[in-house]
Amino acid sequence: MTARAEIFPPAFLWGAATAAYQIEGATAEDGRGESIWDRFCATPGNVRNGDSGAVACDFYHRYRDDIGLMRELGLDAFRFSIAWPRVLPDGRGRVNAAGLDFYDRLVDTLLEVGIRPFPTLYHWDLPQALEDAGGWPARATAEAFVEYVDAVAARLGDRVTDWTTHNEPFCSSWLGYGTGLHAPGRTNVADAIAAAHHLLLSHGWAVEVIRRHSPEAEVGIVFDLWPVQPMSDDPADVEAARIMDGFNSRRFLDPVLRGEYPADVLEELAPVAPPVADGDLAVIAEPIDFIGVNNYSRWIVRADPASGKPLAVRAPEGQLTDMGWEVCPDGLYEVIMRLHRDYRVQKIYVTENGAAFPDVVTHDGRVHDVERQTYLADYIEATGRALADGAPVAGYFVWSLLDNFEWSSGYAKRFGLVYVDYPTLRRIPKDSYCWYRDFIAAGRPEPASSAQA
Ligand code: FCB
Repeated sequence: MTARAEIFPPAFLWGAATAAYQIEGATAEDGRGESIWDRFCATPGNVRNGDSGAVACDFYHRYRDDIGLMRELGLDAFRFSIAWPRVLPDGRGRVNAAGLDFYDRLVDTLLEVGIRPFPTLYHWDLPQALEDAGGWPARATAEAFVEYVDAVAARLGDRVTDWTTHNEPFCSSWLGYGTGLHAPGRTNVADAIAAAHHLLLSHGWAVEVIRRHSPEAEVGIVFDLWPVQPMSDDPADVEAARIMDGFNSRRFLDPVLRGEYPADVLEELAPVAPPVADGDLAVIAEPIDFIGVNNYSRWIVRADPASGKPLAVRAPEGQLTDMGWEVCPDGLYEVIMRLHRDYRVQKIYVTENGAAFPDVVTHDGRVHDVERQTYLADYIEATGRALADGAPVAGYFVWSLLDNFEWSSGYAKRFGLVYVDYPTLRRIPKDSYCWYRDFIAAGRPEPASSAQA
């Protein structure tokens, strides 16, 4: 299906998304402290090819040129994250002014060219010092987050109008502390459950701090939401889908939007219940302005014949991206409609959507990424359909502006609209970049002179 730019209202925001550790590099500059990702990458076997974010796209030094690329693209908004270890190298206590200066310059440069900054306060790069003191399974880390947010919001709160507290607390807690696939690489279910609770708690506390420094601003949180579908009508498969959806999605949505953990999820988790103290759920449910959805695919699950637990299965005939994720635009439609219908969310952004494909620079010096173009067009069409069906979607951000450090996959997976030649750090806009630029332009009102002509 074709995406049509005209169906989106003029105020709809077209954006692109990134995260600090994935693009900045300069990990040892201007007083930045160590993060859990620096430590994780330094341990052989954790990241493909021994890659790390030490240089990444060198955005720290090249951000002005990259903002030039954003401007040519016609972006309304840019989603990036702030690196906690740049601001508070030890996690708490001493504020590193040089770290804040960088984000100050970044925000001002974006604003100068009319691009709205959408900072995320936590996109997975916890200061190592806080991990050493217990990490997210410890309640004290949530308290430290408040100190950090206070320092950032005090500095940028006069100019930033759209804040996100956390990116995908499911991933930071479960991949970081449960499966060990991500930093800090721990493998303890109880720790992962506690980490998730403290991430949510720190979100609630942070909302109040941001509002104090930035009273006009909108504040939200970003969840990774993939619909979970049973492989068959067999009640065991349906039950497996319910369990997985509870663990991945409702465990986060319900506390934030309803002030409670779902009863069935608590029952499943019984031996490792989240460490909820009096008043926590009221804090977590502090009213917010928007929910960000990161969506790439869907899950299809069946019940493990032995344990009954959910097992992900491969879609029978779906197209897969380079991540092995099935292309499924209807999945994005479905999660947006769920937020609208079941949770009555008043404002929704698609804060990440995109695809990795094995891009190559061809003899003409270009990157003909037709599959990415089709992927984006189809997912944008699904977003437009949700909008037409009444969901309050206010913007869409492509993941990602640039090819970048894809966590434990290193530099092997390319998600960018812009190709990065890592040895030289040269940027090459891909065909999908040109497509997105033309798509955005097509939805804009014509300049007055040509409209009259
Ligand atoms: C999301 C992350 C983002 C990026 C994409 C591909 O889960 O938020 O940093 O890695 O996946």
